[in-house]
Amino acid sequence: MPEPIISIPPATPLNPRKRAILVGASSGVGAALARRLAREGYTVACLARRAEQLETLCKEINQASGETRAVPYTHDVTNTKVVPQLFKDIVTDFGGLDLLVYCAGISLPVGLKKYDFEKDRATTEANYIGALAWLNPAAEMFQSLKKGQIVGISSVAGERGRVGNPSYNASKAALTCYLEALRNRLTRYGVHVLTVKPGFVQTDMVKDAKKLFWVVSPEQAAEDIWKGIRKRKQDIYVPARWRLMMFIIRIIPSFIFRKLTF
Ligand SMILES: NC(=O)c1ccc[n+]([C@@H]2O[C@H](COP(=O)([O-])OP(=O)(O)OC[C@H]3O[C@@H](n4cnc5c(N)ncnc54)[C@H](OP(=O)(O)O)[C@@H]3O)[C@@H](O)[C@H]2O)c1
Repeated sequence: MPEPIISIPPATPLNPRKRAILVGASSGVGAALARRLAREGYTVACLARRAEQLETLCKEINQASGETRAVPYTHDVTNTKVVPQLFKDIVTDFGGLDLLVYCAGISLPVGLKKYDFEKDRATTEANYIGALAWLNPAAEMFQSLKKGQIVGISSVAGERGRVGNPSYNASKAALTCYLEALRNRLTRYGVHVLTVKPGFVQTDMVKDAKKLFWVVSPEQAAEDIWKGIRKRKQDIYVPARWRLMMFIIRIIPSFIFRKLTF
């Protein structure tokens, strides 16, 4: 349910304030990006399930800005039925929309020899089905306005099917492919679609993971994402050196790749 809105400063010709929806804003990359966007003058609708984290984040942003630049909306992305109305409510509350970022995601560990349909379903619902629910109304609106920006936080994990967490890989592969298709549809209408592929970011998601490398902070990831938005890039790796790494990983022949244990 949308929370009541405090007074959002209106956009004026001299102060063309931008408005964003950030789905998955309560921690990690999403929280850092909410702070970064607010510093750029965006008013950000911050969505996630953990109401307390969202409240704290929005208070912190609003205090630092001296005005309302972040508004919490408690929402579970697996509850897709409510998305069309919630999307409309936020757009009404904010007086329009310039940017939608889908950052929500989960990664549920599955043992190397285990198969767990419920975990696979939960992963797919949060990482992909929820994204469809949010990106569709944004795409439709931006297409008719002939402007707007869409950002999806995918992952390098979507580029190969690995033994470690098959449904996480598959959910990110689906998201990457969907974002590419959206870009191909929407570029002709002047709408920008950015796919973000992080490697490892130091967040709760990887707190128990071992053998991480090239780990960046959520703030560094947010900085790279903001640059991608500002420069209207079509896809970025975070950090950028993953592009070469993934080029190499993509061309490893399957008969070798299947012997790897990560
Ligand atoms: N950390 C990495 O190394 C890494 C690498 C590649 C890609 N990524 C991607 O980056 C994105 C952000 O992850 P993170 O690393 O910042 O981890 P995180 O701190 O765990 O953040 C995940 C975010 O997704 C939200 N979320 C999860 N399930 C949700 C649901 N059902 N409904 C609404 N919101 C939900 C969480 O909010 P609530 O729990 O409050 O709902 C939280 O705000 C994810 O898509 C992840 O796959 C991360």
